[in-house]
Amino acid sequence: MSEYGAPSVLALREVSPPKISDDAVLVRVRASTVSSGDARVRAANFPGGFSLIARLIFGWRRPKQPVLGVDVAGVIEAVGRDVRDFRVGDEVFGMCGTRMGAHAELCALSTKGCIAKKPAELTFEQAAALTFGGTTALDFFRRAKLARGERLLVNGASGSVGVAAIQLAKSAGAHVTAVCSARNFELVRILGADATIDYNTRDFADGSEQWDLVMDTVGNAPYPRAKRALADGGRLLLVLATLGDLFTAPWYSLTSPHRVIAGPVEERREYGETLAKLAREGRIRAVIDEEFSLERIAEAHALVDTGRKRGNVVVRVS
Ligand SMILES: NC(=O)c1ccc[n+]([C@@H]2O[C@H](COP(=O)([O-])OP(=O)(O)OC[C@H]3O[C@@H](n4cnc5c(N)ncnc54)[C@H](OP(=O)(O)O)[C@@H]3O)[C@@H](O)[C@H]2O)c1
Repeated sequence: MSEYGAPSVLALREVSPPKISDDAVLVRVRASTVSSGDARVRAANFPGGFSLIARLIFGWRRPKQPVLGVDVAGVIEAVGRDVRDFRVGDEVFGMCGTRMGAHAELCALSTKGCIAKKPAELTFEQAAALTFGGTTALDFFRRAKLARGERLLVNGASGSVGVAAIQLAKSAGAHVTAVCSARNFELVRILGADATIDYNTRDFADGSEQWDLVMDTVGNAPYPRAKRALADGGRLLLVLATLGDLFTAPWYSLTSPHRVIAGPVEERREYGETLAKLAREGRIRAVIDEEFSLERIAEAHALVDTGRKRGNVVVRVS
């Protein structure tokens, strides 16, 4: 990708293999996803107020990193000098984060970030589909100190973050209400949701019911709306937040009976390990809407751009 824009800016090109630092591994990529993050960077469509900061990170007029791709699952081809716990030939999965680069045959993955050995029970496609939503949900639940028995509402429950949040919250012993359109009720119930709300027919924030945690992955439940759905001591998790939401979060947390949590997710090594363990135990599973070959990456982006994907869109690389 040499410019920002519609999926048609994407093209297959020969590029040099990435160089790896001493604490990184070189992965022969087998599968990745087109995440909402990839689609945002491709289109330079950043959440409200973040355009300036995001363009400084990703490239002002054109992308600095021509290869997108956040999630990766593949086989280690080389290891950096300081890497002790991974070897050539290991099957791994993890996240390249804002460095991206997973939509290529070879990609560099830091062992200081989110990386884990791929459970044998998972295909590369399934492992790649666990990471983006899984790490995001784990990071927000850690910050919010989600506890057993608490009531959680997930707005946008059928997307990548939503399907992971339902499963991780259930495995942590929470009661989960899923907000999505009725066509996705069956999916979210299979994943463990205890209750469902169709956003087309009911406003979860109409004041008739309250939750201990409200997780908004859609971006239409900032504090002024979501407060009616929060119990005393409740926490609002703004997965999709504007810069304004980020600035007002500490103020609302100080002046109301609620806490507002927003901001970018940390890529902790432990998240990959937690996801691998839960997948091995059969407590979480990957949700894949559709798989595409790398040659069809523009079609994969177009599906993500609809904003209606179920779970994850996977790209098979090699
Ligand atoms: N803070 C961070 O560091 C961080 C990390 C990861 C992601 N994010 C952000 O989080 C957002 C969500 O990511 P994602 O990958 O989960 O998105 P996604 O997979 O694209 O979400 C698609 C889902 O959203 C649902 N949806 C659409 N409109 C809705 C509405 N009005 N109410 C409820 N559900 C609705 C759709 O369900 P229906 O088809 O049923 O409508 C669809 O299943 C993205 O904007 C991403 O940039 C932030």
